[in-house]
Amino acid sequence: MNKDFKEILITEEQIKNQVKQIGEMIDAKYGNEEVVIVGLLKGSYVFTADVARAIKNPNVFVEFIVASSYKNGDSTGEVRIVLDTKRPVYGKHVIIVEDIIDTGRTLAKVKQMFVNRGAKTVEIATMCTKPARRVVHVTIDYPTFEIPDEIVVGYGLDYNEHYRHLPYVAAITEEFFKKGLIK
Ligand code: PRP
Repeated sequence: MNKDFKEILITEEQIKNQVKQIGEMIDAKYGNEEVVIVGLLKGSYVFTADVARAIKNPNVFVEFIVASSYKNGDSTGEVRIVLDTKRPVYGKHVIIVEDIIDTGRTLAKVKQMFVNRGAKTVEIATMCTKPARRVVHVTIDYPTFEIPDEIVVGYGLDYNEHYRHLPYVAAITEEFFKKGLIK
């Protein structure tokens, strides 16, 4: 194993199975109805691409947004949309796709935003979740991996922008955590 990692928490194989299952669930639920998959950059770029390719529905559209949140200790949980969808979501089925839910603040705000914009339905698919860190309740509508409160990288997740490109999810070592603070 790479010396920067102490453990692989989610394997490539596990993610493949999850993606397949989610694609099948979306097809079973929506058939050929119009569905807008909204990935939250940067973290969700890999999962969004994989989930979209697991869906057979010809009426699926892919959008991305960037939500910026303040994450320091005295965080107010403010979430700002710095890149928005290209097309309106009014009257459409929206599925927000995330790499991870931590406190839940980002997803709660983003979900509410799409509800306010008149989306027909708004669901959430997240590759993984850290239940121990949750501050705001968020309903997860598709299969997810529950992970411990570790700093994780891979499959879109980064530590100071490192290791987003891994095909699996790993917990980083204490040494890498200290080293990685230098950008
Ligand atoms: C991560 C992740 C979620 C958010 C979850 O993004 O992709 O969007 O944090 O945290 P929360 O549940 O506490 O709101 P990050 O801000 O690290 O940006 P990135 O996607 O560009 O890596």
